[in-house]
Amino acid sequence: MPKDPDTGAAPDAGTGPPNGPRHVAIIMDGNGRWAEAKGRPRLFGHHAGARRVREVVEACPKLGIKYLTIFAFSTENWKRTQTEVAGLMSLFRRYISKETRALASRNVRVRFIGDRVRLDEKLTSLMDQLERETANNDGVHLTVALNYGGRDEVARATRRLAMDVANGKLDPQDVDEETLPKYLDTHVLPDPDLVIRTSGEARISNFLLWQSAYSEYEFIETLWPDFTAEELGRLCTSYGTRDRRFGAVKT
Ligand code: FPP
Repeated sequence: MPKDPDTGAAPDAGTGPPNGPRHVAIIMDGNGRWAEAKGRPRLFGHHAGARRVREVVEACPKLGIKYLTIFAFSTENWKRTQTEVAGLMSLFRRYISKETRALASRNVRVRFIGDRVRLDEKLTSLMDQLERETANNDGVHLTVALNYGGRDEVARATRRLAMDVANGKLDPQDVDEETLPKYLDTHVLPDPDLVIRTSGEARISNFLLWQSAYSEYEFIETLWPDFTAEELGRLCTSYGTRDRRFGAVKT
């Protein structure tokens, strides 16, 4: 079994379903529809969705999930109404302030991926603080994609890589499938084994484009605020029965 890229430690053994996923990534979709179905504003759905995040993070250790990556806000989500965007940014600030202590004490290590340039300073300083305060934790690795887009990530990575070439630190001949991911936001994480999207939409919407080349996918009907730890457990069990060949033929 691969070792933890950060700590070098062996992954937690003996928990979760047989052959369950080590890294689960989730596109948390359906908050708006969930709220609208109840005659409530969309932000009501986002708040309900945020509460689900805690339940899912807490379920990870017993399911054997070492890495959880969640899509909180995409580079395309700025196209939403100003009210919804401002409401989401305020929710992220409140969520981080409120959850920092619980996440730190539950041994969760939090990281953020995405471009921080467009985020306000209050939010980015809370993000920095949460990353700092959980930096020595070695339980579940929670990665929150915030102002994240897969294409944007590859473009930013390519820019950094090109700078290294221009500065003579990297030989263009050495650029290959091993080199490029070292420039991605996710460079310390393994690729996701299982990507889940809730709410019945069967698309990946610019999420982890490079990293999910060989991931297994689950597109489920449940709206994110209705998603439960039990459902995650069922998806992990089902993942354990899949035959991942990574392009090879079974011998
Ligand atoms: C997609 O549902 C959801 C989002 C764009 C926001 C996701 C954010 C949360 C779940 C909040 C919690 C996250 C953290 C880290 C605190 P949608 O609005 O597109 O739903 P719809 O497709 O039904 O309109």
